Amino acid sequence: MGRVFPHEMLREMYEQPEAIRRTIALYTVEASGSLELNPEFFPPLAQWGNAHGEVLILASGSSRHSGLAGEILLEDECGLAVDVEYASEYSLRGFNPNSKDLRNPSVIVLSQSGETSDTLAALREARQRGQKTLAITNVEDSTMAREADLSMPLAAGREKAIPATKSFTSQLTVLALLALYEGVSLNRLDAAALSARIRELVAVPEAIDAQLAGWETQMAALAKKYRDAATFLYLGRGIHYAIAREGALKLKESSYIHAEGYPTGELKHGPNALVSEQVPLVVLATVDEGLEGSVLRYEKTVQLLRDMKAQGAKVIALANTGDTEISGLVSDCVFVDPAPEHLLPISEVIPLQLFAYFMAIEHGINVDHPRNLAKAVVEQSQ
Ligand code: G6P
Repeated sequence: MGRVFPHEMLREMYEQPEAIRRTIALYTVEASGSLELNPEFFPPLAQWGNAHGEVLILASGSSRHSGLAGEILLEDECGLAVDVEYASEYSLRGFNPNSKDLRNPSVIVLSQSGETSDTLAALREARQRGQKTLAITNVEDSTMAREADLSMPLAAGREKAIPATKSFTSQLTVLALLALYEGVSLNRLDAAALSARIRELVAVPEAIDAQLAGWETQMAALAKKYRDAATFLYLGRGIHYAIAREGALKLKESSYIHAEGYPTGELKHGPNALVSEQVPLVVLATVDEGLEGSVLRYEKTVQLLRDMKAQGAKVIALANTGDTEISGLVSDCVFVDPAPEHLLPISEVIPLQLFAYFMAIEHGINVDHPRNLAKAVVEQSQ
């Protein structure tokens, strides 16, 4: 008999490997032993790209955090010039019609529901400005999917809990596939490399399946240990900064505990004044050993962790499985199996989701319906 989950959020976290697999299956096909991008979905995207390689990502909440990861994916993989804006800010900018905008970026709106009013307003503003638009939503016939020039649905399945989990990792999956498509279009990847990269993505849900139960046990114990902390500071560099932001948001909305996400290098520019017995750090310290930039970021993080140990800070770190250097420097270490740098976020956000979930349980909160929040905010922000 299948497991009976006490909350939708926990069920949806466990559905992630399947949601990611379904999303990959939608966009890829196997042809004579090699994996390719599904020709049903990608040709229309050829009309979408801006000639100057400019992309603007507009979103709200968790979807904006997957947008921050998408920015790094599209910039690193394809050399595009990507900006990410809060949909609520973009839609109310009141652009001056008399001053010529030198940019004309292609626009991506990211939204689980496809109905968030600020993101919908941003999409309409972009269309009015003549920009080409692509909607990535979890609801195939949502307003955004219908109104955008192009639509890339997720196959996460309906998400009921207010804190987004499986839609977030499915968004990361679609963005990784979009980056592969753009990489091929810009001749940065050949067929063999593309097939190898898709296989790396296919391996992610397998790895998550193998780690989920262990993460659940560990994060439940860590939530007990850290239940009385006042504030958490989440730190990450590069693409992991997006996950630091998402981990902090998940904790806030699920457990009502204050948390903020920062780029790791910013800690000493202010936030470190907060670090104390009551204010622990959650540091993303995973690494892709095969990537120079990743190793450089990791070494900087190791140095920071040495400083934090000397300072007496309490630190929970996420590190590669078996990384004894990191585990020797921190109070608690959560292991994540190694993966290519750009795919690590899909795995490493999951222990952070579980931490938020168990913190909510510790505090007796109805995690599927946190106070004052809605699954989709469909009225215009004030
Ligand atoms: C609300 C939800 C968040 C979500 C955000 C954006 O605030 O509580 O979980 O991330 O809306 O929603 P969307 O459907 O546009 O992704």
